[in-house]
Amino acid sequence: MEVIRTPKAMQQRALELKREGCVIGFVPTMGFLHEGHLSLMRLARARCDVLVASIFVNPAQFGPTEDLDAYPRSFERDEALCEREGVDIVFYPDAGNMYADDASVWVDEESLSGVLCGVAREGHFRGVCTVVAKLFNLVQPGLAVFGEKDAQQLRIIERMVRDLNFPVDIIRGPIIREPDGLAMSSRNKYLSGRQREDALCLRKSLDQAEELFGLGERDAKVLRQAMADLIDPVPGAEIEYIEIVDDASLAAVDGINGVVLAALAVRFGATRLIDNAMLHV
Ligand code: PAJ
Repeated sequence: MEVIRTPKAMQQRALELKREGCVIGFVPTMGFLHEGHLSLMRLARARCDVLVASIFVNPAQFGPTEDLDAYPRSFERDEALCEREGVDIVFYPDAGNMYADDASVWVDEESLSGVLCGVAREGHFRGVCTVVAKLFNLVQPGLAVFGEKDAQQLRIIERMVRDLNFPVDIIRGPIIREPDGLAMSSRNKYLSGRQREDALCLRKSLDQAEELFGLGERDAKVLRQAMADLIDPVPGAEIEYIEIVDDASLAAVDGINGVVLAALAVRFGATRLIDNAMLHV
């Protein structure tokens, strides 16, 4: 397994591999890898000749009051996990190498980014789109895998690829959960023992929405209320949003007739957790 630390070396290597006719598969991450990330690597591994994973805590997607400095990092451990998953190249750049001091071009998605997580995290998806566009230019993937855990991010990347004609197939990876149902996240490590238990209310509220939907409930307000009823009583859980949105446009719906996403963000102290479930007949 190779570790490449500069954008220029990464791009040269990728162009060389492409000239040799290799299909490059790509899994972008911010590191502190868990089974969710590794599942995406397995999906990519089965579909490509050369597998590249990036580990880069992207400053452009963190707001001024967010956890950029505290974001957990563990490069040696991550490197060993990548090796075990059959990654061929780990791209591990410095922020200083990735962004010029006077960088002034950004990729802004203007429709899907203003709802759900985009409300409280202004500029977040601009940072995500910009770094993913840069990474695609550096890694030259034929396919890239993103997780449904970040459903809004995934749909925004799909939109960016469509609207800017990136020659990349985007593959969706399912949400990987802890045995008790909590969606895996690098941020779960911030939770205290008590908060970790309380955090199960996210999955429980999605289970409830799925169950009611399965029983025929199609009123989004009823589903949202049923979800809130399982979270409101949990002390220390502060709801940022609970939404039922159209799966493609991410616009809030009243009555459900197509595919929708039930999505929520809940804070436990300083830690913000997100989760979602797709509802369809
Ligand atoms: P990060 O949070 O490290 O996630 C990297 C990828 O892993 C994303 O596609 C995310 O959706 C996926 N992922 C995280 N937890 C998952 C889980 N429990 N099950 C399945 N997939 C999961 O998302 C980012 O990094 C960044 O925004 C990035 C795309 C790398 C751009 O900086």
